[in-house]
Amino acid sequence: MPRAIIAPSVLASDFGQLTAECKRMIKNGADWLHMDVMDGHFVPNITMGAPVLECVARGVPGIFMDCHMMVSKPEQWVDAIADAGGKLYCFHLEATSDAISLIKTIHGKNMKAGVAISPDTPSTAITDEIGNLADMLLVMTVYPGRGGQKFLDRCLPKVSDLRERFPDKDIEVDGGVTPKTIGTCAEAGSNVVVAGTAIFGSEDPENVITTFKSTINQ
Ligand code: DX5
Ligand code: ZN
Repeated sequence: MPRAIIAPSVLASDFGQLTAECKRMIKNGADWLHMDVMDGHFVPNITMGAPVLECVARGVPGIFMDCHMMVSKPEQWVDAIADAGGKLYCFHLEATSDAISLIKTIHGKNMKAGVAISPDTPSTAITDEIGNLADMLLVMTVYPGRGGQKFLDRCLPKVSDLRERFPDKDIEVDGGVTPKTIGTCAEAGSNVVVAGTAIFGSEDPENVITTFKSTINQ
């Protein structure tokens, strides 16, 4: 399995102190920062876009921004996110009719490409061609749109299926991941862990990050 990567979701951070919050997480052992971009259309909320990400990239040198694009037109934002310093562009399979072209466009902008599936989308929607071309596959373990929701363990068989079909790919879980639910994620084969509430809401984020990492590496 690829290496363990822990990506705190800034959705649970103090947005008024975003760069400081990102720096704090890196100090506490975060590998990536998970940036939830919502357009108020694909999901009901609006969060941030390329101008904010650009400020973060400038303020936090070396940051790896894992951009989770919860947007209706993922083709539209590739250039702006790349120019803002995004390193990974993860779009929702439900939001595009041509995932293959989109992955190629993302690669053309020198970003890694991720493909996300919401709870009601089966893992078989990720065809062999899509999975082999993508760098990362994201299995949502809550309905996209907001933090602090309950983990849906019925999504885990999709992680197992994708790990079996794509042994060398990064497989990310996002939503409701805590020190209690990480064990089942690791067992199913996920190696990239996103957590908002569990990390930012903790008095000891370093300990939570270390727990996540050691559980994946077990
Ligand atoms: C949900 C977002 C998640 C969210 C996770 O739409 O994609 O990244 O921030 O938050 P928690 O860990 O609190 O469920
Ligand atoms: Zn997310």
